[in-house]
Amino acid sequence: MRETISRLRQSFEEDCAAVTGSEDWKAVRDKYLAREGGLVTGALKKLRELPKEERPAFGQAMNALREFVEDRLDARLQAVKAGERDRKRPFVDVTRPGVPLAPGSAHPIKRLQAEIEEIFVSMGFEVLDLPEIERDYYNFEALNMPPNHPARDAQDTFYFDDATLLRTHCSSVQVHSMETRKPPIRAISTGKVYRRDPFDATHSPMFYQVDVIVVEEGLHMGHLKGMLDVFLKRVFHPGIKMRLRPGFFPFVEPGAEVDISCIFCSGKGCAKCKQSGWIEILGAGMVHPRVLEMSGIRDPRVTGFAWGMGIDRVAILKYGVDDIRLFFDNDLRFLNQF
Ligand code: DAH
Repeated sequence: MRETISRLRQSFEEDCAAVTGSEDWKAVRDKYLAREGGLVTGALKKLRELPKEERPAFGQAMNALREFVEDRLDARLQAVKAGERDRKRPFVDVTRPGVPLAPGSAHPIKRLQAEIEEIFVSMGFEVLDLPEIERDYYNFEALNMPPNHPARDAQDTFYFDDATLLRTHCSSVQVHSMETRKPPIRAISTGKVYRRDPFDATHSPMFYQVDVIVVEEGLHMGHLKGMLDVFLKRVFHPGIKMRLRPGFFPFVEPGAEVDISCIFCSGKGCAKCKQSGWIEILGAGMVHPRVLEMSGIRDPRVTGFAWGMGIDRVAILKYGVDDIRLFFDNDLRFLNQF
Protein backbone atom coordinates (compact mmCIF):
# COMPACT_ATOMS: atom_id res chain seq x y z
CA MET A 1 0.00 0.00 0.00
CA ARG A 2 2.73 2.38 0.98
CA GLU A 3 4.49 1.42 -2.17
CA THR A 4 1.49 2.28 -4.34
CA ILE A 5 1.32 5.67 -2.72
CA SER A 6 4.99 6.48 -3.04
CA ARG A 7 5.03 5.31 -6.66
CA LEU A 8 2.04 7.48 -7.39
CA ARG A 9 3.70 10.40 -5.68
CA GLN A 10 6.93 9.93 -7.55
CA SER A 11 5.28 9.65 -10.94
CA PHE A 12 3.20 12.75 -10.16
CA GLU A 13 6.32 14.70 -9.22
CA GLU A 14 7.97 13.77 -12.51
CA ASP A 15 4.90 14.66 -14.56
CA CYS A 16 4.49 17.93 -12.71
CA ALA A 17 8.13 18.91 -13.18
CA ALA A 18 7.78 18.31 -16.93
CA VAL A 19 4.87 20.76 -17.28
CA THR A 20 5.78 23.73 -19.50
CA GLY A 21 2.44 25.29 -20.45
CA SER A 22 -1.14 25.50 -19.29
CA GLU A 23 -2.19 22.71 -21.68
CA ASP A 24 0.29 20.20 -20.15
CA TRP A 25 -0.78 21.40 -16.76
CA LYS A 26 -4.42 20.55 -17.42
CA ALA A 27 -3.44 17.12 -18.72
CA VAL A 28 -1.47 16.36 -15.53
CA ARG A 29 -4.25 17.63 -13.32
CA ASP A 30 -6.76 15.40 -15.09
CA LYS A 31 -4.42 12.46 -15.05
CA TYR A 32 -4.24 12.54 -11.23
CA LEU A 33 -7.36 14.31 -10.05
CA ALA A 34 -10.11 13.79 -12.68
CA ARG A 35 -13.29 12.56 -11.00
CA GLU A 36 -13.50 9.72 -13.46
CA GLY A 37 -10.23 7.88 -14.02
CA GLY A 38 -7.85 10.20 -12.10
CA LEU A 39 -5.08 8.14 -10.54
CA VAL A 40 -5.40 9.68 -7.07
CA THR A 41 -9.18 9.84 -7.09
CA GLY A 42 -9.30 6.26 -8.46
CA ALA A 43 -7.01 4.97 -5.70
CA LEU A 44 -9.21 6.60 -3.06
CA LYS A 45 -12.21 4.75 -4.46
CA LYS A 46 -10.40 1.50 -3.84
CA LEU A 47 -10.57 2.23 -0.09
CA ARG A 48 -13.71 0.18 0.23
CA GLU A 49 -12.04 -2.91 -1.17
CA LEU A 50 -9.44 -2.92 1.63
CA PRO A 51 -9.74 -4.87 4.89
CA LYS A 52 -11.38 -2.71 7.50
CA GLU A 53 -8.29 -2.25 9.71
CA GLU A 54 -6.17 -0.93 6.85
CA ARG A 55 -8.69 1.64 5.70
CA PRO A 56 -7.96 4.54 8.14
CA ALA A 57 -4.19 4.55 7.51
CA PHE A 58 -4.63 4.28 3.75
CA GLY A 59 -7.35 6.89 3.74
CA GLN A 60 -5.17 9.32 5.64
CA ALA A 61 -2.15 8.70 3.42
CA MET A 62 -4.23 9.10 0.27
CA ASN A 63 -5.80 12.32 1.50
CA ALA A 64 -2.37 13.66 2.32
CA LEU A 65 -1.24 12.71 -1.17
CA ARG A 66 -4.25 14.44 -2.70
CA GLU A 67 -3.51 17.63 -0.79
CA PHE A 68 0.10 17.44 -1.81
CA VAL A 69 -0.90 17.02 -5.47
CA GLU A 70 -3.34 19.93 -5.30
CA ASP A 71 -0.77 22.25 -3.67
CA ARG A 72 1.92 21.31 -6.13
CA LEU A 73 -0.43 21.82 -9.07
CA ASP A 74 -1.43 25.26 -7.77
CA ALA A 75 2.20 26.31 -7.41
CA ARG A 76 3.03 24.93 -10.83
CA LEU A 77 0.15 26.78 -12.43
CA GLN A 78 1.37 30.10 -10.99
CA ALA A 79 4.86 29.43 -12.32
CA VAL A 80 3.55 28.43 -15.77
CA LYS A 81 1.38 31.55 -16.02
CA ALA A 82 4.25 33.83 -14.97
CA GLY A 83 6.45 32.17 -17.58
CA GLU A 84 3.82 32.73 -20.27
CA ARG A 85 3.48 36.41 -19.31
CA ASP A 86 7.25 36.87 -19.48
CA ARG A 87 7.41 35.30 -22.90
CA LYS A 88 4.79 37.72 -24.21
CA ARG A 89 6.64 40.75 -22.83
CA PRO A 90 9.20 42.16 -25.28
CA PHE A 91 12.79 41.81 -24.26
CA VAL A 92 14.20 45.01 -22.82
CA ASP A 93 17.91 45.50 -22.88
CA VAL A 94 18.39 47.90 -19.99
CA THR A 95 22.06 48.42 -20.85
CA ARG A 96 21.27 49.92 -24.26
CA PRO A 97 21.91 53.68 -24.63
CA GLY A 98 18.68 55.74 -24.58
CA VAL A 99 16.96 57.10 -27.66
CA PRO A 100 17.66 60.86 -27.76
CA LEU A 101 14.48 62.93 -27.33
CA ALA A 102 14.08 66.01 -29.49
CA PRO A 103 13.00 68.70 -27.01
CA GLY A 104 10.60 71.27 -28.45
CA SER A 105 11.38 74.96 -28.30
CA ALA A 106 9.47 78.20 -28.45
CA HIS A 107 8.54 79.50 -31.91
CA PRO A 108 10.80 82.44 -32.88
CA ILE A 109 7.86 84.85 -33.05
CA LYS A 110 6.57 83.74 -29.66
CA ARG A 111 10.05 84.16 -28.23
CA LEU A 112 10.38 87.65 -29.60
CA GLN A 113 6.89 88.45 -28.28
CA ALA A 114 7.98 87.32 -24.80
CA GLU A 115 11.24 89.32 -25.08
CA ILE A 116 9.29 92.46 -25.98
CA GLU A 117 6.85 91.95 -23.10
CA GLU A 118 9.83 91.46 -20.79
CA ILE A 119 11.35 94.81 -21.82
CA PHE A 120 8.09 96.58 -20.95
CA VAL A 121 7.57 94.70 -17.70
CA SER A 122 11.06 95.83 -16.67
CA MET A 123 9.91 99.43 -17.31
CA GLY A 124 6.86 98.99 -15.07
CA PHE A 125 4.21 98.33 -17.74
CA GLU A 126 1.13 96.13 -17.42
CA VAL A 127 0.65 93.48 -20.12
CA LEU A 128 -3.04 93.21 -21.05
CA ASP A 129 -4.42 90.05 -22.62
CA LEU A 130 -7.09 91.27 -25.02
CA PRO A 131 -9.58 89.42 -27.23
CA GLU A 132 -8.80 88.57 -30.85
CA ILE A 133 -12.53 88.56 -31.55
CA GLU A 134 -13.25 92.21 -30.92
CA ARG A 135 -16.14 94.62 -31.07
CA ASP A 136 -16.10 97.16 -33.92
CA TYR A 137 -16.27 99.81 -31.19
CA TYR A 138 -12.87 98.92 -29.68
CA ASN A 139 -11.11 98.19 -32.97
CA PHE A 140 -12.39 101.24 -34.87
CA GLU A 141 -15.03 103.50 -33.43
CA ALA A 142 -13.43 104.44 -30.12
CA LEU A 143 -10.15 104.93 -32.00
CA ASN A 144 -11.70 107.80 -33.89
CA MET A 145 -12.75 105.73 -36.90
CA PRO A 146 -16.56 106.02 -37.08
CA PRO A 147 -18.48 103.88 -39.60
CA ASN A 148 -17.53 104.73 -43.18
CA HIS A 149 -14.31 106.42 -42.10
CA PRO A 150 -11.89 106.05 -45.04
CA ALA A 151 -9.06 104.83 -42.77
CA ARG A 152 -11.00 101.60 -42.20
CA ASP A 153 -10.33 100.62 -45.82
CA ALA A 154 -6.60 100.46 -45.15
CA GLN A 155 -7.30 97.55 -42.81
CA ASP A 156 -9.40 95.13 -44.81
CA THR A 157 -11.33 93.41 -42.07
CA PHE A 158 -12.76 89.96 -41.35
CA TYR A 159 -16.25 90.64 -39.94
CA PHE A 160 -18.47 88.17 -38.10
CA ASP A 161 -21.37 90.63 -38.22
CA ASP A 162 -21.76 94.42 -38.25
CA ALA A 163 -20.49 94.80 -34.71
CA THR A 164 -18.01 91.92 -34.33
CA LEU A 165 -14.72 91.32 -36.10
CA LEU A 166 -11.26 89.79 -35.89
CA ARG A 167 -9.11 92.63 -34.55
CA THR A 168 -7.01 94.26 -37.24
CA HIS A 169 -4.51 95.74 -34.79
CA CYS A 170 -3.62 95.76 -31.10
CA SER A 171 -4.47 99.45 -30.72
CA SER A 172 -7.66 98.49 -28.86
CA VAL A 173 -5.37 98.41 -25.81
CA GLN A 174 -5.72 102.20 -25.78
CA VAL A 175 -9.48 102.03 -25.27
CA HIS A 176 -9.53 99.01 -22.95
CA SER A 177 -6.84 100.40 -20.66
CA MET A 178 -8.29 103.91 -20.41
CA GLU A 179 -11.82 102.60 -19.82
CA THR A 180 -10.76 100.50 -16.88
CA ARG A 181 -7.89 102.43 -15.28
CA LYS A 182 -7.09 105.90 -14.04
CA PRO A 183 -3.93 107.73 -15.12
CA PRO A 184 -1.06 107.17 -14.81
CA ILE A 185 -1.53 104.29 -17.24
CA ARG A 186 1.33 102.28 -18.71
CA ALA A 187 0.07 99.29 -20.65
CA ILE A 188 0.91 97.13 -23.62
CA SER A 189 -0.83 94.32 -25.41
CA THR A 190 0.67 91.87 -27.86
CA GLY A 191 -0.79 89.13 -30.02
CA LYS A 192 -2.30 88.03 -33.29
CA VAL A 193 -4.12 90.41 -35.59
CA TYR A 194 -5.99 89.62 -38.79
CA ARG A 195 -6.44 91.32 -42.13
CA ARG A 196 -7.80 90.23 -45.47
CA ASP A 197 -4.35 90.42 -47.01
CA PRO A 198 -2.85 88.01 -49.54
CA PHE A 199 -0.44 85.36 -48.23
CA ASP A 200 2.82 86.26 -49.95
CA ALA A 201 6.44 87.01 -49.06
CA THR A 202 5.57 90.28 -47.31
CA HIS A 203 1.93 89.77 -46.24
CA SER A 204 0.02 87.31 -44.13
CA PRO A 205 -3.68 87.36 -43.19
CA MET A 206 -2.58 86.74 -39.60
CA PHE A 207 0.42 88.37 -37.99
CA TYR A 208 1.60 89.69 -34.61
CA GLN A 209 1.66 93.16 -33.15
CA VAL A 210 2.57 94.99 -29.99
CA ASP A 211 0.78 98.19 -29.03
CA VAL A 212 1.86 100.51 -26.25
CA ILE A 213 -0.01 103.24 -24.39
CA VAL A 214 1.13 105.68 -21.74
CA VAL A 215 -1.32 108.20 -20.25
CA GLU A 216 -0.49 110.73 -17.56
CA GLU A 217 -0.22 114.41 -16.82
CA GLY A 218 2.14 116.43 -18.98
CA LEU A 219 3.31 113.84 -21.50
CA HIS A 220 4.63 115.12 -24.83
CA MET A 221 6.40 113.89 -27.97
CA GLY A 222 9.76 114.10 -26.18
CA HIS A 223 8.69 111.33 -23.79
CA LEU A 224 7.51 109.23 -26.72
CA LYS A 225 10.80 109.70 -28.52
CA GLY A 226 12.85 108.89 -25.44
CA MET A 227 10.97 105.67 -24.81
CA LEU A 228 11.15 104.59 -28.47
CA ASP A 229 14.88 105.14 -28.45
CA VAL A 230 15.38 102.97 -25.35
CA PHE A 231 13.09 100.25 -26.69
CA LEU A 232 14.53 100.09 -30.22
CA LYS A 233 18.09 99.94 -28.91
CA ARG A 234 17.14 97.02 -26.69
CA VAL A 235 15.26 95.09 -29.38
CA PHE A 236 17.78 95.65 -32.18
CA HIS A 237 21.16 96.84 -30.96
CA PRO A 238 22.54 99.76 -28.95
CA GLY A 239 23.96 101.45 -32.06
CA ILE A 240 20.59 101.81 -33.77
CA LYS A 241 19.46 105.31 -34.78
CA MET A 242 15.87 106.39 -35.33
CA ARG A 243 13.93 109.20 -36.89
CA LEU A 244 10.31 110.33 -36.84
CA ARG A 245 8.45 111.43 -39.95
CA PRO A 246 4.96 112.95 -39.90
CA GLY A 247 2.37 110.24 -40.44
CA PHE A 248 -1.39 109.95 -40.23
CA PHE A 249 -3.30 107.57 -37.96
CA PRO A 250 -6.82 108.63 -36.94
CA PHE A 251 -6.26 107.83 -33.25
CA VAL A 252 -3.18 110.01 -32.74
CA GLU A 253 -2.44 113.68 -33.29
CA PRO A 254 0.26 114.46 -34.16
CA GLY A 255 1.10 111.09 -35.66
CA ALA A 256 4.46 109.82 -36.81
CA GLU A 257 6.03 107.04 -38.77
CA VAL A 258 9.23 105.86 -37.18
CA ASP A 259 12.27 104.62 -39.08
CA ILE A 260 15.38 102.90 -37.78
CA SER A 261 18.80 103.10 -39.39
CA CYS A 262 19.11 100.12 -41.76
CA ILE A 263 20.35 97.15 -39.72
CA PHE A 264 21.85 95.51 -42.82
CA CYS A 265 24.13 98.39 -43.96
CA SER A 266 24.19 100.53 -40.78
CA GLY A 267 22.60 103.35 -42.75
CA LYS A 268 25.01 103.44 -45.68
CA GLY A 269 22.39 102.37 -48.23
CA CYS A 270 21.74 98.87 -49.60
CA ALA A 271 19.12 96.89 -51.50
CA LYS A 272 17.18 96.11 -48.29
CA CYS A 273 16.64 99.79 -47.45
CA LYS A 274 16.31 100.77 -51.11
CA GLN A 275 19.53 102.78 -50.74
CA SER A 276 17.87 105.16 -48.27
CA GLY A 277 19.71 103.97 -45.15
CA TRP A 278 16.37 103.87 -43.26
CA ILE A 279 13.75 101.19 -42.62
CA GLU A 280 10.21 101.97 -41.53
CA ILE A 281 9.41 100.08 -38.37
CA LEU A 282 6.37 101.46 -36.51
CA GLY A 283 3.57 103.98 -36.14
CA ALA A 284 3.28 106.33 -33.17
CA GLY A 285 1.80 109.56 -31.91
CA MET A 286 0.09 111.52 -29.14
CA VAL A 287 -3.29 109.98 -28.31
CA HIS A 288 -5.99 111.98 -30.11
CA PRO A 289 -8.09 114.15 -27.75
CA ARG A 290 -11.26 112.51 -29.07
CA VAL A 291 -9.89 109.06 -28.17
CA LEU A 292 -9.01 110.24 -24.65
CA GLU A 293 -12.46 111.75 -24.26
CA MET A 294 -14.37 108.72 -25.59
CA SER A 295 -12.55 106.49 -23.12
CA GLY A 296 -13.40 108.76 -20.21
CA ILE A 297 -10.22 110.84 -19.78
CA ARG A 298 -11.52 114.42 -19.47
CA ASP A 299 -8.76 116.19 -17.52
CA PRO A 300 -7.10 118.56 -20.04
CA ARG A 301 -3.73 118.25 -18.26
CA VAL A 302 -3.63 114.53 -18.98
CA THR A 303 -2.17 113.47 -22.31
CA GLY A 304 -0.98 110.20 -23.73
CA PHE A 305 1.23 108.66 -26.34
CA ALA A 306 0.83 105.39 -28.19
CA TRP A 307 2.68 103.32 -30.71
CA GLY A 308 2.24 100.04 -32.51
CA MET A 309 4.57 97.70 -34.31
CA GLY A 310 4.52 94.39 -36.18
CA ILE A 311 6.39 91.70 -34.26
CA ASP A 312 6.87 89.53 -37.35
CA ARG A 313 8.38 92.53 -39.08
CA VAL A 314 10.94 92.90 -36.31
CA ALA A 315 11.68 89.15 -36.57
CA ILE A 316 12.17 89.44 -40.32
CA LEU A 317 14.69 92.24 -39.87
CA LYS A 318 16.42 90.82 -36.81
CA TYR A 319 16.91 87.34 -38.24
CA GLY A 320 17.32 88.33 -41.91
CA VAL A 321 14.33 86.28 -43.10
CA ASP A 322 13.07 87.27 -46.53
CA ASP A 323 9.65 85.60 -46.53
CA ILE A 324 7.06 85.99 -43.73
CA ARG A 325 5.41 82.69 -44.74
CA LEU A 326 8.42 80.81 -43.39
CA PHE A 327 7.27 81.71 -39.87
CA PHE A 328 3.90 80.07 -40.35
CA ASP A 329 4.74 77.03 -42.50
CA ASN A 330 5.87 74.97 -39.49
CA ASP A 331 8.83 73.58 -41.42
CA LEU A 332 11.26 72.26 -38.79
CA ARG A 333 14.24 72.79 -41.09
CA PHE A 334 13.50 76.51 -40.73
CA LEU A 335 12.33 76.58 -37.10
CA ASN A 336 15.28 74.51 -35.81
CA GLN A 337 17.63 77.34 -36.76
CA PHE A 338 16.36 79.55 -33.94
N1 DAH B 1 -2.45 100.35 -35.34
C1 DAH B 1 -1.56 100.81 -36.38
C2 DAH B 1 -1.47 99.74 -37.46
O1 DAH B 1 -1.82 98.62 -37.22
C3 DAH B 1 -0.19 101.06 -35.85
C4 DAH B 1 -0.15 102.23 -34.93
C5 DAH B 1 0.10 103.50 -35.41
C6 DAH B 1 -0.37 102.06 -33.59
C7 DAH B 1 0.16 104.58 -34.58
C8 DAH B 1 -0.30 103.15 -32.72
C9 DAH B 1 -0.04 104.42 -33.25
O2 DAH B 1 -0.50 103.03 -31.41
O3 DAH B 1 0.04 105.48 -32.42
O4 DAH B 1 -1.03 100.05 -38.53
